[in-house]
Parts: sequence; structure tokens; C-alpha cells
Amino acid sequence: MRSMHDAKLLADSISKSYSRPGEKNFLKVLDDIRFHIRESEFVSILGPSGCGKSTLLNILAGFETADCGDVACCGEPVKGPSPERAVVFQSPVLFPWLDVKDNILYGLKLKKEDRKESEDLASVYIKAVALDGFEEYFPSQLSGGMQQRAALARALVLRPKVLLMDEPFASLDAQTRYSMQQLLLSLHGKYRHTMVFITHDVEEALLMSDRICIMSKRPGRIVEEIDVPFERPRSLSLTSTQEFSILKTKIIASLMG
Ligand SMILES: Nc1ncnc2c1ncn2[C@@H]1O[C@H](COP(=O)(O)OP(=O)(O)OP(=O)(O)O)[C@@H](O)[C@H]1O
Ligand SMILES: [Mg+2]
Repeated sequence: MRSMHDAKLLADSISKSYSRPGEKNFLKVLDDIRFHIRESEFVSILGPSGCGKSTLLNILAGFETADCGDVACCGEPVKGPSPERAVVFQSPVLFPWLDVKDNILYGLKLKKEDRKESEDLASVYIKAVALDGFEEYFPSQLSGGMQQRAALARALVLRPKVLLMDEPFASLDAQTRYSMQQLLLSLHGKYRHTMVFITHDVEEALLMSDRICIMSKRPGRIVEEIDVPFERPRSLSLTSTQEFSILKTKIIASLMG
């Protein structure tokens, strides 16, 4: 049973409004969002465009503050960004003047970690995302999928307690997307990060997650939580099973309201 006490990441009654450009009134974006995510749990968030998913992720990351409510990570209030909560965005945010290896080492240098250990760790994650041989390439010399893998390695190398991902594979072609999904599944199997994963893709959410939170249209609320019963390790063949199709249909119905 889920309890508040084993939450790795907790959002308690989060609400958020933004001022409307040129107007005096506010646009309510998030309304009383509550959830808790256990250690190593993979939770996806699905919801219509504009319902506040990125806003919620930015609040969990500490980039934005909620108007009311609390966010806590490992029992500590979230007061700003931290390497404990790494973020991967839809477009890979890499430093164009640094090569792959230095992009991945960047956060470790900021944390002033031992240079030799950092280099060894960077090599492990470069290999994990299959970028060995491309260490000295600059972002402009990589494909979109390779850039996204570098961004993933850059987040993972910090060994975050929580990994927050905002539609990380949305801009990739289908084939690259499948291979990134497989990669993330195997990395999650190995390192057991606690994951919050925003996607528009119902199949992707079902394939990857332990649980799916469905948000209403704006102002976003969590209207349904679905436990995903499929055993791990999972592979793409899961998506062609009858159980998968039944759950997919149920989620689509829920999204359509
Ligand atoms: N800085 C901001 N100032 C004003 N309004 C904002 C700001 N950031 C987001 N919004 C508004 O908040 C609402 C939710 O935006 P958000 O980016 O969180 O949606 P989303 O669910 O991630 O959508 P999508 O699926 O299209 O990415 C939108 O109406 C947007 O215009
Ligand atoms: Mg968004």
C-alpha cells in the first residue's frame, strides 16, 4: 500500500496561476495537485496540451514555485533546483562549446568531485547510452537522438535521487524513439532511479511506467491514477498483447474525459 511516509517525491496540494499578458486577471494552471512517488518508482504523467504538465515538472525541479502547497524530496522541502533532481527536456540542452565528454563532466565539475573518479563515471554513462567513440564530438556534430542520449547521460552521471523528464523523446523519429525507450527501460532496471516522465504517448507511458497519473484539462488536476501491472523487464513485444490494448483503450477513454 502507498503511504505518505515512503514517498521519495511528494507534491501536497500544489496550485499555480500565471498572470495573463496584458490583463489584470490570472490563469489558473494547476489546481490542488497531490501525489507521492516511491523510491525507484517510474511514474508517467499524461494530460492534454496546456494542462500544466511542464509547469508541474518545473515546480518539482525547483525552477518554479507553487502559489500554495508543498513539494518535498526525500523528506526535505524543495526550495530550488538541485542535482538531486535532474531534468531532461524535450530538446536536449547541451553546451554547444563543449564536446560530449565535457558536457557530461560539467555537473560533476560544479560539484567539485574528484577528477579521476568523475572521468571514470562519465565513461560508464557514455557507454551506457552507447556514445563511446563520440566523446570528442560537439553537439552540432551529433544527430538529434545522439544529443538526447548525451543529455540523458549528463543527467544520470550526477546520480540524481529523482529524474524528471519532460517529453524527452517527443522530437525523435519512431525508430530512435523505440531505441531510447529500450535504453531508458534498461537504465531504470539497472540504476532504479525514481522517475517522473511526461509524455503524450499512451503506449510509451504504459510500456515504461509502474503508475500513470492522468491530468484533467487546465486547470490541471490529477483525475486518475492507474497501476501498470506488467512485469519487468519489459520489451516492445508487450505492446502487442491483449492486456496492453485493454489498458491503452481505458487510458484513452479517461483522457478523452
Ligand atoms: N511563464 C508563464 N507565464 C504565463 N503563462 C504560462 C507560463 N508558463 C506556462 N504558462 C501557461 O500555463 C499553461 C500550462 O502550460 P504548460 O507548459 O505547463 O502545459 P503542458 O501541459 O506542459 O502542455 P504541452 O503538453 O503542450 O507541453 C499554458 O496555458 C501556458 O500558457
Ligand atoms: Mg509541456
